[in-house]
Amino acid sequence: VSLDAAKVINVTPRYSRLRAGANGSAKGQIIGWENIELISDRPLETMLKEFKQLKKEYPDRILIASIMEEYNKAGWEELIDRVEQTGIDAIEVNFSCPHGMPERKMGAAVGQDCALLEEVCGWINAKATVPVWAKMTPNITDITMPARVALSSGCEGVAAINTIMSVMGISLDTLRPEPCVEGYSTPGGYSCKAVHPIALAKVMSIAKMMKSEFNDKNYSLSGIGGVETGGDAAEFILLGANTVQVCTGVMMHGYGLVKKLCEELKDFMKKHNFKSIEDFRGVSLQYFTTHTDLVRRQQEAIRERKAIKKGLQSDKEWTGDGFVKETESMVSN
Ligand SMILES: Cc1cc2nc3c(=O)[nH]c(=O)nc-3n(C[C@H](O)[C@H](O)[C@H](O)COP(=O)(O)O)c2cc1C
Repeated sequence: VSLDAAKVINVTPRYSRLRAGANGSAKGQIIGWENIELISDRPLETMLKEFKQLKKEYPDRILIASIMEEYNKAGWEELIDRVEQTGIDAIEVNFSCPHGMPERKMGAAVGQDCALLEEVCGWINAKATVPVWAKMTPNITDITMPARVALSSGCEGVAAINTIMSVMGISLDTLRPEPCVEGYSTPGGYSCKAVHPIALAKVMSIAKMMKSEFNDKNYSLSGIGGVETGGDAAEFILLGANTVQVCTGVMMHGYGLVKKLCEELKDFMKKHNFKSIEDFRGVSLQYFTTHTDLVRRQQEAIRERKAIKKGLQSDKEWTGDGFVKETESMVSN
């Protein structure tokens, strides 16, 4: 939400899909999704009423308000005050929408500029009384830089990733780009399954930074990007995420996807005998290293394998009664 929804004017169509399979066959599974949608154009008052209603109906659940505002301290303060009055539990700040909003110095325009980000995070955290998460853009060379700035400026957590700047395609009939609005387009945000590997890499690097530079027990990391199954969610948690978010998956398959996802996540936990998220959070981070180290490890492993000689090296090594096993050890098939 933002203060003045009247400034948010969406166009239609605003989505474009990428399908797997030969020539993007209409039968292929949807793996990529581009949107040029802005934030919601519903009036702030309507959203605030619904936040209140949600907290009334589900008082034991966590409600996080996603907010963004123009480069204006008083505006941010008013917005934070108004969303907090509804009883929400936390705020996620959208510093990352890559299309439309940056033209108003919002979203990725802030998330890509560490000095601006520090200033705006300072305003927000001086005002907010609930935890604040900064939502990061992947459209930057090193995502750990803005993540570090957000955490150092008082944010309790970071969420990653927002969408990746993209052009879905060009129609070979009309020569016009997709999604096509009155014959024209603008680059938009890419999401869905195809972005999952990129999101995992970004979350991994943020988690490593948080582990080495912050006491990661006091901070929170939310993994986002291409999550459709419990396995996708487990991967983010294995890389250090405390929570996981789903957007395009639910847009395509409905809320039922979340129920299935939770069941699959529980099955994964049962399989490994994990009793809580903390039992496996960040466990896979230790398996990332440098390429130089991979080469060293492989050379060492080859040396070790060569050192293990198969079978008996001389007849002196027959043990007597162990001859059946020793014979087996020298059979090649
Ligand atoms: C149609 C659409 C609208 C979105 N609107 C917002 C938004 O208003 N604020 C925001 O922070 N992220 C927004 N996102 C980004 C998603 O929350 C999410 O970060 C991104 O799509 C990657 O996750 P996914 O692959 O599960 O969709 C939007 C994404 C889509 C596809």
